[in-house]
Amino acid sequence: MDPIGFIGLGVMGQPMAMNLLKAGYPLIVYNRTAARAAPLAEAGAQVAVSPRAVGAVSRVVFINVADDAAVESVLFGPEGLVQGLAPDSVVVDMGTTSPSATRAFARRLAEQGGILLDAPVSGGEAGAHAGTLSIMVGGPQAAIARVLPLLKVLGKSVVHVGSSGAGQVAKACNQILVSATLMGVAEALTFARRLGVDPARVREALLGGFAYSRILEVHGRRILAGDFTPGFRARLHQKDLGIVSREAQALNLALPATALATQLMNALVAAGQAESDSAALVQVIEQLCGMAKTPPSDPG
Ligand SMILES: NC(=O)c1ccc[n+]([C@@H]2O[C@H](COP(=O)([O-])OP(=O)(O)OC[C@H]3O[C@@H](n4cnc5c(N)ncnc54)[C@H](OP(=O)(O)O)[C@@H]3O)[C@@H](O)[C@H]2O)c1
Repeated sequence: MDPIGFIGLGVMGQPMAMNLLKAGYPLIVYNRTAARAAPLAEAGAQVAVSPRAVGAVSRVVFINVADDAAVESVLFGPEGLVQGLAPDSVVVDMGTTSPSATRAFARRLAEQGGILLDAPVSGGEAGAHAGTLSIMVGGPQAAIARVLPLLKVLGKSVVHVGSSGAGQVAKACNQILVSATLMGVAEALTFARRLGVDPARVREALLGGFAYSRILEVHGRRILAGDFTPGFRARLHQKDLGIVSREAQALNLALPATALATQLMNALVAAGQAESDSAALVQVIEQLCGMAKTPPSDPG
């Protein structure tokens, strides 16, 4: 059996690659910073010296790198995947990449005989470790069928959203919803606190009603505890909102909630919180309201 390729062993890629290995698939991995491949090597994976070397031996290659530029470099750089890829190989981009870049990359890869699937995820680092990610897939059905057993190792939900780029569109929609809801949760809990009502009790009351959301539950807990250990880092949330904003601008789409979330996320990163969980957005709201940081309280 050809080894499965995995390129990009960051916060997300490392545990995902490990899950494929644990499921019994032979693996060949590459990471730009070689030291990050060590745990996979210890667990039995082969380590390659370049994306090209991965492409030369694998017919299915996962990539999970930082952004559009990183995906382009891994695919088409001087030591890129395409330099060694056999015809009909499937490359699965599991990072969050812009839909338009994804479609362009898919066309370029097709010219070299390869197939690019976009399969971004929701569920964060915890979901990557547990193999419980939600995976949103774009690309041709036949290629998806070839990698479906592997995707099922990585996630609990795998949805074929549509043609190339459709998975990334779904992920952008996910970020629109998450950021708008996060702003609402941060505002509501700040409002309660300023009006002298315990925000922990407010959250508890609202969790049982129509305003329930997973964001109120999870991010609300982080806000109340004042614990912004990531989770999902503000710099990545900012990057994803940038993707939505650029796609929207190209089509003259007015997305006012996303525009506001983008500005608040910029302010959070400018305040030195790039590596904090994006729920720290509450601190920007508090500052706008002339309030001190949330004192930790027991979310129950
Ligand atoms: N973290 C989350 O909770 C989460 C959730 C959903 C989706 N995502 C998405 O998943 C992707 C990866 O996120 P992450 O949290 O795993 O990020 P990360 O920990 O910062 O890892 C980024 C990875 O990309 C590699 N990379 C960056 N630039 C590169 C380049 N020019 N060439 C080759 N490799 C390059 C890094 O290599 P080095 O080790 O050499 O720096 C590293 O392996 C992103 O698209 C992110 O938006 C993340």
